Amino acid sequence: MKYDALIINIGELLPMDQAGPVKGAAMNRLKVITDAALAIKEGKVAWIGKTKDAVSLDAEKTIDAENKLVTPGLVEAHTHLVFGGSREKEMALKQQGVDYLEILKQGGGILSTVRATREAAFEELYDKACFHLDRMLMYGMTTVEAKSGYGLNRDTELKQLEVVKALNEKHPIDLVSTFLGAHAIPPEYKDDPQAFLEEMQSLFPKIKEKRLAEFVDIFTETGVFTVEQSRGFLLAAQDAGFQVKIHADEIDTLGGTELAAEIGAISAEHLAVTSDEGVKQLAASDTIGVILPGTSFYLGKDTYARAREMIDGGAAIAVSTDFNPGSSVTENLQLIMSIAALKLKLSPAEIWHAVTVNAAHAINRGDAAGTLAIGRNADVVIWDAPNHLYIPYHFGVNHVNTVFKNGKIVFERQRIC
Ligand code: NIG
Ligand code: FE
Repeated sequence: MKYDALIINIGELLPMDQAGPVKGAAMNRLKVITDAALAIKEGKVAWIGKTKDAVSLDAEKTIDAENKLVTPGLVEAHTHLVFGGSREKEMALKQQGVDYLEILKQGGGILSTVRATREAAFEELYDKACFHLDRMLMYGMTTVEAKSGYGLNRDTELKQLEVVKALNEKHPIDLVSTFLGAHAIPPEYKDDPQAFLEEMQSLFPKIKEKRLAEFVDIFTETGVFTVEQSRGFLLAAQDAGFQVKIHADEIDTLGGTELAAEIGAISAEHLAVTSDEGVKQLAASDTIGVILPGTSFYLGKDTYARAREMIDGGAAIAVSTDFNPGSSVTENLQLIMSIAALKLKLSPAEIWHAVTVNAAHAINRGDAAGTLAIGRNADVVIWDAPNHLYIPYHFGVNHVNTVFKNGKIVFERQRIC
């Protein structure tokens, strides 16, 4: 057989091929193949072994990995990819100590992005999101979740979801779409949040019929939606055939984590201030905890999610950027991996599980992304790093050397020296 491509001299290959989602202590068990090689055929991984055994293989193209680290493409399970405008002026307010929820209460924050997103034309939103997506690809992400939630009316929510659909058709990154119409209460429904939720709920059939989203999400938070309102909304979403996610216990401890476990949400996301009971219930459930430590960092919080206790209790944890214009303005998941090491106290093995196989399971792509095994998509990253410990260690920069999506090279670092 002639392979399309053969990568040889891989210093460390991480196949990430434990059956997922990988829970508890198993997150710390990492398979590492040294002196490895990997062959690609028709966009899939076709062979994995040692470089010495690859010499007899025939391939169109051979790539020398020069003893670098090779992993699956990173999977990003939580972004707010499509939005108008930006909010750099809020940074000064934050420095003066004005809190995130206070800015929202004053009509800024999410609501200021809602105004900009409502005003923006489809093409403008598309181009802007495409730019961020290009950057994500350069940073090693090959599958990305994208939430709506800056429309808060029927037309703009649909416009955001259509942008994701169009980008998914065009861009090498695979996009997975989430309807987050319940992201904030728009001014026109200020006094009647329940009526607003019903308005967003009325979009479920259309979103389903046009396949515009796989998941429904809600921001369960002080001044936004209560646990009761969230339960009703998410149960209606499940009845309409969606899997559900929750922005849970991000700023105040409301019990969104417990709600996620109770209703069988695929994921509970943020969890920065989850209660003891929430930690216990998450660990005992099949709900994946998607931890977003960039948000605690960017909002200047001292409290980070108790990911250590969650894993020690047996939970499956993913780690993602929460890329958005307000609470975590970065496409750099590698930086978030460093924060996960330093602030969440996760081990490198746990972090690699959290940004590959477990993140894939959190967006229902466990069979398509996050793992390098024979027959799986050849979404592969060659890193300018000697081993898997190196990425969380050397923080804040881009370590990507080459990105393959479905077996094709889609990004290569420019060499100046
Ligand atoms: O995940 N918490 C709600 N949503 C986003 C922030 C969105 C924004 O500030 O624009 C989050 O942190
Ligand atoms: Fe978010």
